[in-house]
Amino acid sequence: MSKDIKTKMQKLASEIQKHDYQYYVLDEPSITDAAYDQLFRELQKLEVENPDLILPNSPTQRVGGMALDQFQKYRHGIPMLSLANALTEEEFAAFDERVHRVIDVDPNQELEYFAELKFDGLSINLVYENGSLTHAATRGDGETGEDVTLNIKTIRSIPLTLKTDHPPEKIEIRGEIILAIKDFERLNRDQLNKEEKTFANPRNAAAGSLRQLDSKITASRPLTGFFYGLGELVIGNSKYKLPKTIAEFEDQLKEWGLPVGKQKKICKGAKQVLKFYKEIEGIREDLPFEIDGVVVKLNAFSLQQAAGFVSRSPRGMIAFKYPPKKSVTMVEDIQVQVGRTGALTPVAIVTPVNVGGVWVKRATLHNQDEINRKDIRIGDHVVIQRAGDVIPEVVEVLKEKRRGDERKFLIPDICPVCESKVIRGEGEAVARCSGRNCIGKLKEKVRHFAQKDAMNIDGLGDKIVEQLVDAGLVKKLHDLYSLEYDDLLSLEGFAEKSAHKLLNAIEAARTPELYRLIFGLGIRHVGETTAKLLAQHFKSLKKIRSATLEKLLEVGGIGDEMAKSLIEYFSHHEVIEEIDSLLEKIKPVEPKASTSPQIFQGKVFVLTGTLPTLDRSGATKIIEDHGGKVSSSVSKKTDYVLAGEEAGSKLEKARELGVKVLNEAEFQSLLLH
Ligand code: IVH
Repeated sequence: MSKDIKTKMQKLASEIQKHDYQYYVLDEPSITDAAYDQLFRELQKLEVENPDLILPNSPTQRVGGMALDQFQKYRHGIPMLSLANALTEEEFAAFDERVHRVIDVDPNQELEYFAELKFDGLSINLVYENGSLTHAATRGDGETGEDVTLNIKTIRSIPLTLKTDHPPEKIEIRGEIILAIKDFERLNRDQLNKEEKTFANPRNAAAGSLRQLDSKITASRPLTGFFYGLGELVIGNSKYKLPKTIAEFEDQLKEWGLPVGKQKKICKGAKQVLKFYKEIEGIREDLPFEIDGVVVKLNAFSLQQAAGFVSRSPRGMIAFKYPPKKSVTMVEDIQVQVGRTGALTPVAIVTPVNVGGVWVKRATLHNQDEINRKDIRIGDHVVIQRAGDVIPEVVEVLKEKRRGDERKFLIPDICPVCESKVIRGEGEAVARCSGRNCIGKLKEKVRHFAQKDAMNIDGLGDKIVEQLVDAGLVKKLHDLYSLEYDDLLSLEGFAEKSAHKLLNAIEAARTPELYRLIFGLGIRHVGETTAKLLAQHFKSLKKIRSATLEKLLEVGGIGDEMAKSLIEYFSHHEVIEEIDSLLEKIKPVEPKASTSPQIFQGKVFVLTGTLPTLDRSGATKIIEDHGGKVSSSVSKKTDYVLAGEEAGSKLEKARELGVKVLNEAEFQSLLLH
């Protein structure tokens, strides 16, 4: 019996792994999301019922687990080295010459190089033992890194088991963890919408996402990776055979199910390498991820070995880099922008300069503390940097270029748009305009409301928002829905067709999904994800606005800061009036009612500890879908305490009060009846 179950679990796991590979590595999904979810849940259910049969590399581990206090140290089997750089064609030619010399071949003989992309991410060492992923560690100082195994396991493009019948006893596979540019931009937009820290570039975002003590956070970020290198190899009793070249080794990695780069070439001699380098430079801007060069490697492992090392770099490889996306320019002025919550952002107006192929005129300075820290003054020569589509930023001041007439800058005390007082809360980096009717805020508010991820009003771009507000046609969000054809025609640039088009788009936004409206209101700390959680839980805006702090905190995924921000937001009578007026014009569509049997109708649950497979928000969703509620503290009114590992005082309290305690398996079995 248990053997049958085990076989079934193995089958499910390998099927899920196959679909993960299709979806995340090949980008060719082979089943629908719903069918995939079903397989996943089936496996989860079997694991709950048979915890002793859980496979060490079960795909259910990909959702993340308990948060760590700190990372363990991990000593690499073979140190992770670095690469020497070539920044110019001459430097590359010198490398080629040097290689000929150290491996003692005729200078005229063309060597076989393997050239591929130099991914701009975070280097990682994956350890597979007998085909199973047992460890993953960051580079650290090269000898010892941080053990980030739990986090790496959440990355769906990285196989938990190698697809081969003959894995070596132990192999270290080296690669790079990256975040695609569009995912980086989305992450930053999300962070911005929540008024949280944004990342300077995809590489920092990837590093920040991987080095999370809570692997659930890593699981929520769409990290991926590329693999290219070999560390320690123990063949042992296995039938594994190491190929003769790096190119073939990479093919093998691909067969094993690991993602490898697509752009690569076996080059005969330095000339062909140069051609590849230039070709890639031409398509660099079109790649979905960032690279900072190409890596050129003697293709044969035997020649790599013969070339040896100098200091901490292999002599048979080189990073042939592209010029960075940084440029030097001058700060001509510093202006202040007003955001939708009144936050004032200083922006440097710079002498237009080309940064990695794009002309830049403005660069963000973030806030006063950043200006002070970097000591940025008007008239300064500065280095600016651009990553993806984000606003370029000033990274550094060239102080040696100062002539003495540069001027320091201070965020003004009064708002540059509406002249209200500017307030900076204690301990806050951000200064805010306190004006209730600031036009600067209003413009940003309307932009935020209309954006794609919110109400998605097609055609209501920055310039038109500006015109509508300046003309006094939009003073409150709901005014958008009273706009008439003639109003638009009176604005510059509008013709019959464009006016109709915009009115149609506004019309279409009268029945948004509820979460779009919640997100569109632009409440501090409430991003798209939070808006979805709120919509799902409360099902109406009126219920959200009358919810108490305690009720808000009962929603899985809503933290203290968000709940407080919601209470603060709804405490202003102008907000209530504005929402009432909006709701007269639009009818948000409530999330579909649950189709699950309402077996927990009226029952109150409290969650505590870490459950084997469900996380907090998952368990909350199941309870709520079945008509129950989740509360944060145990009292006589509590019906069930759902307890996992390391449950603390809540479990004790439940026992004191005689409240029924369930483990996850018992909970899941209630769902089956
Ligand atoms: S081979 C001895 N190949 O660049 C290290 N490295 O600047 C052998 N990198 O530490 C590395 N893409 O993290 C290699 N296709 C690629 C790479 C690559 C990115 C990183 C790697 C390395 C760093 C050196």
